[in-house]
Amino acid sequence: MAGACPGRFAMNLPFDPAEVSRRLLVWYGKAGRDLPWRNTRDPYRIWLSEIMLQQTTVAAVIPYYERFLESFPTVDDLASASLDEVITLWAGLGYYSRARNLHKAARQVVSEQGGGFPNTLDALTSLPGVGRSTAGAILSIAFDKAAAILDGNVRRVLVRLFAWQEDPRSSRAEKQLWLWAAALTSKEQPHDYAQAIMDLGATVCVPRDPDCDNCPLQEIWQASKKGLAADLPFARKQKKVPVRQQVALIISASDGLLLQQRPPEGFLGGLWEFPTTDLSPELTAEQAAVRLLSELCLHGSLKKVGEIRHAYSHFKLELSLFKVDAEVTEGVAEGSEYCWRSGTELESLPLHGAHRKAYNLFANDSRRK
Ligand code: ADE
Repeated sequence: MAGACPGRFAMNLPFDPAEVSRRLLVWYGKAGRDLPWRNTRDPYRIWLSEIMLQQTTVAAVIPYYERFLESFPTVDDLASASLDEVITLWAGLGYYSRARNLHKAARQVVSEQGGGFPNTLDALTSLPGVGRSTAGAILSIAFDKAAAILDGNVRRVLVRLFAWQEDPRSSRAEKQLWLWAAALTSKEQPHDYAQAIMDLGATVCVPRDPDCDNCPLQEIWQASKKGLAADLPFARKQKKVPVRQQVALIISASDGLLLQQRPPEGFLGGLWEFPTTDLSPELTAEQAAVRLLSELCLHGSLKKVGEIRHAYSHFKLELSLFKVDAEVTEGVAEGSEYCWRSGTELESLPLHGAHRKAYNLFANDSRRK
């Protein structure tokens, strides 16, 4: 490995890399978590778990993972499903491009490999949604092949272990951290090593208040030796996230509540929501709500329910919510993108997270009255 490093990223490691995997593997044997995707070597299941675990916690993923596999136990089942079915099962997990990519990738696997799962870095990274780190995790966990992983948890472990004192997301950091990740990867037990280092990041070397007393790497941990125990990773400069203001209407009529499907491509594509409009500066929220109602050719008195906030990776949403008992429903809002659903039916419709919150607020408000 060291021979492959360009000069600036020379790898004079401050400890023997074999010592790291030895310590991690002993720790993992005692403290590793028993997770549903750990009882299998099926690459389809492991790929699914890795995609779900991108930007999402284990606790949030488990029920989705189990439900998904009940519906699609094999990659062929997933490939033959419709995108709508996949999105419905994904609703609430967020980052929906993952679901679209998963579906596309399943079709690619089935058409290119007759269902056999790709097992090289190049073949895996050619699948939509599979980057180098996810490919490394699949190779290690499903195929027991030594491949480096650098997800958020591993990145934090390495930054602290090697006392990396620069921006952890710079391209310099990227090169250096990948080299360290590769140098530490166990050649003998890649399957266990991958899960051990990810578990360490998720349970011990956590972002805030890490449990350093119980860390198997404590004695070789460079940040501590340099007096930087509490400081790394250095915070990145926070980008200012724009705020988007919208108004949504929960319109009730005899047929239920009115919902609208978002266009299939793009942000939150194919998911359902209550009729919504952006709030422009010249209108109050109430005026925007009245205008939206008339655009839908509906009438009824509006009542403010409240506001919800929802954070996306690239903006923050502030949503003002109004409810309306609609007086006229005939000929209204017709078109395949609209539907009326009862509260119970709504449970099985893939509503995106902000509007699931909006519905809960509305339901609580109605219960109180
Ligand atoms: N995060 C990403 N992949 C993981 C895995 N296989 N186990 C636990 N946490 C993870």
